[in-house]
Amino acid sequence: MATNRTFTMVKPDAFGAGNAGAILKMIEEAGFKIVALKATKLSSDLAGKFYEVHKERPFYNDLVSYMSSGPIIAAILEKDNAVEDFRKLIGATNPADAAEGTIRKIFAKSIEANAVHGSDSDENAAIEGSFFFSQAERVI
Ligand code: PPS
Repeated sequence: MATNRTFTMVKPDAFGAGNAGAILKMIEEAGFKIVALKATKLSSDLAGKFYEVHKERPFYNDLVSYMSSGPIIAAILEKDNAVEDFRKLIGATNPADAAEGTIRKIFAKSIEANAVHGSDSDENAAIEGSFFFSQAERVI
């Protein structure tokens, strides 16, 4: 059975454009409960660790540099079937392919500056949530 949590980041492009509040509103209106939330800025080292799984991909250095270029919001979200439902809410990685009404269709600028991150599995949601938040930083 799917666990009920996922992890997200509002990426530097969306944060910098002042869209964090609108994105969090869409997330809450879609039925996700915020159980942990912080604004922060990743160092290059930390961004490199977070995306280590993509180390061999051609865009890795650009992705790390972009994700450490400005402030972000990190959050743990709760909802039944959270990982799958959140991926539907944010839309395809490339906003050009994202469905109408999805967060990336509305807010993303490019495949790199694509507004939000969403975990791709329950296992990674737990790993990514723990990367940013201690137990004491979560409401439950
Ligand atoms: S996913 O979400 O893992 O299925 O998507 P994937 O295509 O595997 O991409 C993994 C992360 O890399 C980002 N990405 C890119 N960044 C910069 N340039 C290019 N060309 C590019 N292609 C993909 C993508 O936004 C994913 O980041 P996250 O934070 O996981 O959404």
